[in-house]
Amino acid sequence: MQRIVSGMRSTGRLHLGHYLGVIQNWVNLQNDNDCYFFVADWHALTTKYDNTKDLRQDVIDVVIDWLASGINPEKSTIYVQSLIPEIAELNIYLSMITPQNWVERDPTLKDMAKILRNKESANSQISYGLMGYPVLMSADIMMLNATAVPVGVDQVAHIEITRDIVRRFNNLYKTDFFNEPKPLLNHCSLICGLDGNKMSKSYDNDIKISDSEEVTAKRIMSAITDRSRIRRDDLGHPDQCEVAFKYWQIFGDETQVDIVKSECEKGTRGCADCKRQLGALVNERFKEIRERRRYYEAHLNEVHDVIREGSEKTRAEARKVLTEVRNIIGMY
Ligand code: TRP
Repeated sequence: MQRIVSGMRSTGRLHLGHYLGVIQNWVNLQNDNDCYFFVADWHALTTKYDNTKDLRQDVIDVVIDWLASGINPEKSTIYVQSLIPEIAELNIYLSMITPQNWVERDPTLKDMAKILRNKESANSQISYGLMGYPVLMSADIMMLNATAVPVGVDQVAHIEITRDIVRRFNNLYKTDFFNEPKPLLNHCSLICGLDGNKMSKSYDNDIKISDSEEVTAKRIMSAITDRSRIRRDDLGHPDQCEVAFKYWQIFGDETQVDIVKSECEKGTRGCADCKRQLGALVNERFKEIRERRRYYEAHLNEVHDVIREGSEKTRAEARKVLTEVRNIIGMY
């Protein structure tokens, strides 16, 4: 049994990339582990500090998507980062012991900084808070003394820094108090966006968990297929199909994938028909999740209760760790 901590930034409604890449993993882990999942609203502020009008709603949307996807508050603890002020205090202690060049080296942070710099606006500055991104993440993880952190591949570099910070803390203060958390990757293949790039809201190539069946079907009709195929009866090349066939491999069973492959190769399956079927398949897969989502949208008080109870429980845990940390360091 692992003590598991993971979070997502509150950037609004989640898409199938979040679901397949991370949430599904969490849903499986919650059955036999001690799981804490939180909305990282402070981390959202590292880049969205000048546009906070949707912050509150974004937090709610993320939690609804989790609950709809099967994160069960009876099994997992769900909380909001900014409701645990102990994390901010731990962040201060960790920031004192983290060498500046460790954060400067963080490749994920470098990518974020590059994107920000390319945005031609007054707010394209990289703030002190953004530089501290991996340190704050370490505080999130160490606040509950986690042993494992299930994340997408893009987050692994951050977790490496956390492991370094844990080792440094334990060395400096001659303790073995903190666990070295290991990243847990999902083995599901990564889903690309409808245009073949990484699925992302900012590329407008995503399908949201919360999209209606109509929107999903329509969006899937825009997915790229085999670009060499012009007429319906041209022979197809599923291995060169840039998006649609990949989705079949993710959502279809073996028999379905075989049929799609052979009909496409023989030229008896047009891309439009193929994508119509694919849309129906994806909608079937997310039917129950979307029904649950509608339930929580209509019962927002339940969502707020989950957040409040989870945050109280987390805070009690966090206080224990913080007392220990203050003692170890030798604070007044
Ligand atoms: N950086 C993560 C993301 O962008 C969110 C996150 C913040 C996180 N703190 C964390 C993930 C701690 C795992 C553990 O999705």
